[in-house]
Amino acid sequence: MKIKSVRGTHDLLPESIGLWQQIESTARGVFRLYGYEELRTPIFEKTELFARSIGAESDIVQKEMYTFNDSKGNPISLRPEGTAPVVRAYLEHGLHHDKSVQKLYYIGPMFRHERPQKGRYRQFHQVGVEVLGSDHPALEAEVIEMLVRFLRDLGASEIQLLVNSVGCPNCRPGYVKILKEELDKLQDGLCAECQRRSTTNPLRVLDCKVPACQPLIDGLPSILDHLCEECRQHFEQFQAYLELQNIPFEVVSRLVRGLDYYVGTTFEMISSKLGPTQNAVVGGGRYDGLPELLGGPPTPGFGFALGIERLVVLLEENETGLRPGPDIFLAYLDESVLQETLGLARELRDQGISAYVDFEGRSLKAQMRLANKLHSLFTCIIGDDEVKSGQFPIKRMEDGHQITQAREAIASYVKEDGVITS
Ligand code: HAM
Repeated sequence: MKIKSVRGTHDLLPESIGLWQQIESTARGVFRLYGYEELRTPIFEKTELFARSIGAESDIVQKEMYTFNDSKGNPISLRPEGTAPVVRAYLEHGLHHDKSVQKLYYIGPMFRHERPQKGRYRQFHQVGVEVLGSDHPALEAEVIEMLVRFLRDLGASEIQLLVNSVGCPNCRPGYVKILKEELDKLQDGLCAECQRRSTTNPLRVLDCKVPACQPLIDGLPSILDHLCEECRQHFEQFQAYLELQNIPFEVVSRLVRGLDYYVGTTFEMISSKLGPTQNAVVGGGRYDGLPELLGGPPTPGFGFALGIERLVVLLEENETGLRPGPDIFLAYLDESVLQETLGLARELRDQGISAYVDFEGRSLKAQMRLANKLHSLFTCIIGDDEVKSGQFPIKRMEDGHQITQAREAIASYVKEDGVITS
């Protein structure tokens, strides 16, 4: 029996890798403009890191982590998200001594044992950003501006920004108490999950998607009416900075997020193109207490993570032409000119041109068919006459335009994308 991939995981095949590479390089390019540097953390960490930071009562820690004991019996988990590992690394390496504000990003796989469905996988990939060391609302708006630029550069559209404030340890407990009292009155009308959360984590009731619960939840008190003065002012300034940047947004007081470390500003980006449920492309917010919770000094933090699989769905319709083919396909008449062909391929590669040579003994016609299939930009035909004269016919595959080039001019011709140089 053939062995298949594990449910909820998927292979990224060459036919779709172009878009992934474009997303990654656009992220690197745009984040660099704002002074962000890449940080790579291990794929597994001590389980305690996630239990302490994401919250022991959260869905992620309760039921979604891939956890196992190593040979010494220490609990280890595959990372379900990137914020806690970044903060751990930040503290472990004393990055706070290096500069007062650290702007970091990461790209990589995350693991959650959720029920797989469209847009929800067990191994998925995030592009994430974390800024440690500043609690300025203008910086939050700048992070969002950077995210908007990144999405715009990729051509993603129909994405909506939702923002909220989930308060701080000063004001949230008061709100949670009021919320709990109200939930107690509604118990019979709520779904089983909401009933459970009403006692374990009342804020998460606001996140429920069950249709029958919606009218009841809509009638619950809003956290925005219970923020302390500091949180209220911070949230107002954040919104003012977004307006200054001309970034449209909607305030949604039910947006509480599923991870316990958030304080103050939270946000999501959603798209109706993703369907009614797994519609969040980006989730993020402020987590000022997290470094302290992990044994570090009090340090403000803010960031987001974007799900690459979901972004890919939004971009797929623009995907045509992204599959990277070779720059030039070197088609040779027969084995007698193979050595010359390989020499030419080497020279072109030395100059940064990707050159493809077939080793299957195909006829010239079959090689041209292969060049087409590979989406090669150019083809060059090599026979005895060409080798002797040092002049090679180069065909631009897109429109069939053909010219003859001297051997040493081929690379620059191809680099200039077919602009005729002689
Ligand atoms: P999150 O909301 O759990 O936040 O995940 C962020 C994004 O990852 C989601 O909006 C979604 O696009 C994607 N995602 C999450 N789970 C799955 C899944 N099972 N399958 C496919 N995509 C998924 C965090 O992870 C926080 N660490 C974000 C953050 C960074 N907050 C502050 N800094």
